[in-house]
Amino acid sequence: MSYLQFHAVTKSFGVNPAIEVIRPFDLTIDRGEFIVFLGPSGCGKTTLMRMVGGLETLSSGKITLNDQPLGAPDRRRGMVFQSYSSYPWQTVQQNVAYGMRYRDDLTRDQKAKRCQEHLALVGLSEFADAYPNRISGGMRQRVAIARTLAAGSEILLMDEPFGALDAQRREVLQIEMLRLQREDPKTIIFVTHDVEEAAFLADRVIVFTKRPATILAEVNVRAVLGAERTLETRDSQTFFALRNQLLTLVRSTSVEEVIE
Ligand SMILES: Nc1ncnc2c1ncn2[C@@H]1O[C@H](COP(=O)(O)OP(=O)(O)O)[C@@H](O)[C@H]1O
Ligand SMILES: [Mg+2]
Repeated sequence: MSYLQFHAVTKSFGVNPAIEVIRPFDLTIDRGEFIVFLGPSGCGKTTLMRMVGGLETLSSGKITLNDQPLGAPDRRRGMVFQSYSSYPWQTVQQNVAYGMRYRDDLTRDQKAKRCQEHLALVGLSEFADAYPNRISGGMRQRVAIARTLAAGSEILLMDEPFGALDAQRREVLQIEMLRLQREDPKTIIFVTHDVEEAAFLADRVIVFTKRPATILAEVNVRAVLGAERTLETRDSQTFFALRNQLLTLVRSTSVEEVIE
């Protein structure tokens, strides 16, 4: 049985003239796979994610989960965006708890316990009572991840989640994502335009063309680097070659922009 599947998904916005954003798009994602979408800005990556999240309609085709068509948003799919719009008047802990507001299956005590567990998972236990404006951007992104995980999402849709962070914080969170994925595997679709981030995190990278989005290449990173990634991975020749391969692909999609 296929887990998450796109079947000839297309999307156009507007009429007369309609803007074609996604050409018939087919992709099968296994349960627990870490997929990275890499491609020029404006090609349609966010649109595809929003479709998986149930936030955007499809013009044609369908998306299925366990062979069942996906519909309106539900807690199986959680989104993490570039900057987390937390509620400034709620503490870190309350922001995480907010993700469970529809979990009628959990008692108040179970929710509190789950909240604590997920704060510990992302290393924020000490900041449970802090307000979002008192913590760093990287920590706010961890709050967003904890909130989505606590909600019970089995699919994480991460749209340039570390895009607003500096290189050092970004690397810390990348390492953290890999650890989370080892401890409690999810199916992840992660958008980035950073080729190193793509190569470091992905099991498989899907490289997109310019709009309308089609798949330019699919790179099986796991087959090259293996499942385990450490900081040493980044210094290896294999990693360097992979990064260059991705960079060449990305450059070929765009003549106007210089991506480095
Ligand atoms: N609601 C919308 N109405 C009209 N055009 C849209 C809408 N959302 C996205 N687009 C267009 O679709 C294209 C793809 O957008 P997007 O999926 O955000 O790209 P990416 O995330 O790859 O940068 C862009 O040209 C964008 O302007
Ligand atoms: Mg986008």
